[in-house]
Amino acid sequence: MKSEFLWMDGELVPYQKAQVHVLTPTLHYGLGIFEGIRAYQTPNGTAVFRLQDHLKRFLHSAKIAGIRNFPYSTETLITATLQTIHANQFSACYIRPYMYMTGPLGINPDEWEPAVSIAAWEWGPYLGEEAIRKGIHLMVSSFTRHHINVMMTKAKVSGNYVNSAYAKSLAVRSGFDEAVLLDPDGYVAECSGENIFMVKDGTLYTPPLGTVLDGITRDCIIKLSHDLDLPLKEESISRDQLYISDEVFICGTAAEVVPVREIDHRIIGDGKRGPITKKIQNAYHAAAKGNHSRSDQWLTYLD
Ligand SMILES: Cc1ncc(COP(=O)(O)O)c(C=O)c1O
Repeated sequence: MKSEFLWMDGELVPYQKAQVHVLTPTLHYGLGIFEGIRAYQTPNGTAVFRLQDHLKRFLHSAKIAGIRNFPYSTETLITATLQTIHANQFSACYIRPYMYMTGPLGINPDEWEPAVSIAAWEWGPYLGEEAIRKGIHLMVSSFTRHHINVMMTKAKVSGNYVNSAYAKSLAVRSGFDEAVLLDPDGYVAECSGENIFMVKDGTLYTPPLGTVLDGITRDCIIKLSHDLDLPLKEESISRDQLYISDEVFICGTAAEVVPVREIDHRIIGDGKRGPITKKIQNAYHAAAKGNHSRSDQWLTYLD
């Protein structure tokens, strides 16, 4: 997670100096907002994938969280993101915009001032290269994903990820790779940091947006499956529907598109990356790396 510089409120700051005070309210109460973005190396140089959409979600998260004095426009954040990658001379990287609150302790956001940082570092696929080819073993978590009137799931608020951390650590400590959480009604919601899709009889299914993050990779897959003439339905899925599906994969900016070979010790399909998953993976990587008809629309080039 090392880099030379981070962007902090308009300035490029050396890594060691990118610090905040231990009494910063976000650290105590979890009201911070973040994004996770990737830049890829393309035939036309480094480009950021779906930058505008990620920054739009960043501002939407702040709005959902009730931040009324968010200090920067999308345009400023685009320039700052490109500046950060440039300063670190990365050709491909992960980018983490973060909004945190400064000011007095006590839980009244109107007494706090938002501050924004942007970090970037070189980071391979979150669940590993092998997972992309061979797939992962998923645990249906005993932790429930947020009720939408407890933690609003359309916002990437730091505090929402305590629930993710509980589910992820239980899964990994129990020998699984990742956790999928059910919503308060018992339907499949999402993983600790990824959305989920299943394939049954040639049709793709993914849970509707109700209780999940509106993932940008999820949106790419919906659009790419349309391009590929693959039928897709957004509808509620039960855990046993996952067990008897032909293919399952999970997706997110950090993880990219990862096949699921087993869930709760039940083999999915033939336990290998399925043909539709592979098609979607290929289309996604082509789009992100500048080799797809969607690329121009989705990439912001560095120079
Ligand atoms: C809980 C959760 N669901 C889904 C996703 C996937 O979202 P995206 O594809 O925009 O990275 C993420 C990652 O940001 C996440 O944290």
